[in-house]
Amino acid sequence: MSTTPFALRYAAEDDVPSMVRLATDAFNASGRSIDDVVFPKHLRTANSEQDIFNWRVRSLRSRLLHHDVVVVVRQGEDGGPDDVAGWAEWQKPVEPGHEHSDTRTMTAEQRVKETIARIGPFPDCIDHAKLKESGEVLDRARMEALGEEGDKHMWTLQSLAVDIRYHRQGVGSMLVRWGLEKAQAEGKDLHLLATEDGRRLYLSLGFEDLKVPPVDYFTKTHYLMTKRVAA
Ligand SMILES: CC(C)(COP(=O)(O)OP(=O)(O)OC[C@H]1O[C@@H](n2cnc3c(N)ncnc32)[C@H](O)[C@@H]1OP(=O)(O)O)[C@@H](O)C(=O)NCCC(=O)NCCS
Repeated sequence: MSTTPFALRYAAEDDVPSMVRLATDAFNASGRSIDDVVFPKHLRTANSEQDIFNWRVRSLRSRLLHHDVVVVVRQGEDGGPDDVAGWAEWQKPVEPGHEHSDTRTMTAEQRVKETIARIGPFPDCIDHAKLKESGEVLDRARMEALGEEGDKHMWTLQSLAVDIRYHRQGVGSMLVRWGLEKAQAEGKDLHLLATEDGRRLYLSLGFEDLKVPPVDYFTKTHYLMTKRVAA
């Protein structure tokens, strides 16, 4: 009999506000917050925090429609509500005929335009120059590591976050293994951009660093990683 209190399922619209909250807290807990760079203090007003939250909720809700977004829930005690313990956003390899609508075939500038067209303008306090610059740094590193085709034929992990109350209990591994199994079933490679903490988890699951220097992405060091599955 399984004793794990955790179960994995697809994310639902109602999960989104708690997913956004837990990701913001999980990322902010590890060193300097990316938020402080993308949404710098000198551009913020009294409403900025709520604006950023609302924008993230709209953005993630819209991504539920296009990507494979899965959550791990901790089953509520005594019949209480389940708690979202962590979530991952996976992007399948580009499907034939959908090349132009897949964000992985776009430049950093095109991705910004696509986002605005899909969910509306970014919060007023965004630093547009920093957003563009970080996107371009990442595109260059990816091109150097993977060539023109980039990761469009791979399973790509776009986001992973675990509630800080549930770290080191195997939740992140469950969410990564889910994508790993899908990719392995299709004989496709996997790709992701890792934080320091994430990198330790991915190494433990057999991912490797791509042969490019770490990327200074929004002031945090990130690593481009892959797991080769295809023959
Ligand atoms: C990275 C993150 C998702 C890991 O989630 P998690 O549920 O704690 O990971 P797991 O419990 O499945 O860890 C599995 C293994 O990964 C390694 N690992 C994970 N986090 C680690 C850490 N902070 N330090 C050292 N090793 C770590 C360990 O080998 C661990 O096994 P162990 O606990 O038996 O030693 C979580 O720390 C997080 O949300 N961090 C903030 C957001 C972030 O960086 N996301 C990743 C984006 S790429």
